[in-house]
Amino acid sequence: ISERQVNEAGHLLVGGVDTTQLAKEYGTPLFAYDTSIIRRQITHFKAIFEKANVKYQISYASKAFATLAMYQLINKENIHCDVVSEGELYTAKQAGFPMNKVSFHGNNKSISELTFALDQNIGCIIIDNFYELSLLDQLTQDRKQKVDVMIRVTPGISAHTHEYISTGQEDSKFGFDLNSGQADQALEQILAAPYLNMLGAHCHIGSQIFATAGFVGAADKMMHLLIDWQAKFNFTASVLNLGGGFGIQYTDDENPLAPETFISAIIEEVKQLSSKNNFPCPEIWIEPGRSIVGSAAISLYTVGSSKSIPNIRDYIAVDGGMGDNIRPALYEAKYETVLANKMNEPANSKVSVAGKYCESGDMLAWDQMLAKPTAGDLLAVLDTGAYGYSMASNYNRNPRPAVVFCEDGKSQLVVKRESLADIVKLDITLN
Ligand code: LLP
Repeated sequence: ISERQVNEAGHLLVGGVDTTQLAKEYGTPLFAYDTSIIRRQITHFKAIFEKANVKYQISYASKAFATLAMYQLINKENIHCDVVSEGELYTAKQAGFPMNKVSFHGNNKSISELTFALDQNIGCIIIDNFYELSLLDQLTQDRKQKVDVMIRVTPGISAHTHEYISTGQEDSKFGFDLNSGQADQALEQILAAPYLNMLGAHCHIGSQIFATAGFVGAADKMMHLLIDWQAKFNFTASVLNLGGGFGIQYTDDENPLAPETFISAIIEEVKQLSSKNNFPCPEIWIEPGRSIVGSAAISLYTVGSSKSIPNIRDYIAVDGGMGDNIRPALYEAKYETVLANKMNEPANSKVSVAGKYCESGDMLAWDQMLAKPTAGDLLAVLDTGAYGYSMASNYNRNPRPAVVFCEDGKSQLVVKRESLADIVKLDITLN
C-alpha cells in the first residue's frame, strides 16, 4: 500500500508534494506518481538477482503504464522493457528507449507490427504461435535480417488469480502448448529458419499472484523443457523468461509475499535443476509490470454529490470512475481510499465511492472508512499506478485525466489532460 505521508495541514503528500496543491494546479481526476517508488522497486529487483549471483534481465512490462516519460524513466534505470503493440513500441521509440532492449509480445502480431519491429532492430520477438512463426520466418528471409527470438509456452500451471488475468493454464489463448509437443515443433521450425536466432523460452502464468507455488512450478516445467531440448535437439537455450505477475498489496487485509520471496524461490529452482542436470544456468528474465508501478501512484478525485439510503448505504460520487480505472468494474478489484485533504480527521464515516459514469458497475470502492466527506473534498484512491491510466477510455465522452510525476517535493506534468476538443478530434461530420 502506498506510503501515506501527511503534512501538518493534514494533507496527503505524493513524492513530498501536497495533493491539494496538485489538485489545484492540474485539476482532477489526476494520476500522481511518486517516481522514487518506481526507482526503488527496480533497485530492489536488481539487488535480489545480484545477491543470488545469476545472470538476469529485468524487462518492465510496459502495458502496466506506458507513456514517453515512463519509458525515459525506465531507460535511466537501465533495464529492458517489453511491448505488446506497435503503439507501445512507437511510444518507446519516441521516448528514445534503446530498441535493442525491447522485447515484443502478443498473440496476434500483424505483418505491419512485425515489420515495424524489424525496422527498429528490436531486441527480441517473443513468438506466440505457428502463424506468427511462419510470418516472421518469411519476413526475415525477404529482408535478409537476423532477429533474436524466444517462444512463449503455456506451461499448464494455474496461478490462482482472477480468471481474466490468468494465462498459464493449458486452455489459454497465449503461447505454444507444452503437453502436446507444440513447443518442440516450434523449436524445430525456428532452428531451421535461417534468420531466426533462438534465445530460449518464455512463460507468463498470470498477474497479481500471491503464492510462490505457481512460479516454482512454472520454473520447474520450463527448466525441464530446456533440458529436454538439449537432449532431443542439441539446442542449449541461453535465456529462461518467466514473465511477470508478482502481486502487490491493494488493501489492508491482503498479505502478499514480497517479490524477493517469489524471485528467490524461482532462482533457487532454476539453479538447482541446472546443476542437477549439468545444464548451464540460463539467464533468468522477469517481466514485472504491476510490481514496478502499481504502488507508485494514486488517483485524485474531487467529491461531488452524495446519496444516503437509510439503513442500506451511503454513497459519495467523484469526478472520475471507470473511464480512468476500469479494474473494479472488470475484475472486482479492491482499493483503499482516503480523503486526502482530511488525513488528520477521524475516519469514522462508512461510505462507498461511486464514479460519474452511467453504469451501476461504476464503483471505485465499497464500504470505505473515511473522514466525514463533503462536496469539494479530495478523494485519493491508492495504488492505482498499474493498469489504471493504461486502460483508460473515453467512455461517456469523458476526457482522460492528466498524469504527474512527483519527487523531492516537485511535480512535473507528463501527460496532459484531454480537452473537449480532443474528444471530437477524430470524428468527421456528415457531408
Ligand atoms: N509479461 C506478460 C507476457 C504479460 O502478459 C504480463 C501481463 C506481464 C508480463 C506483466 O504482469 P504484471 O507483473 O503486471 O502482473 N489488466 C490486468 C492485468 C493484465 C496483465 C496482462 N499481462 C489488471 O489490471 O489486473
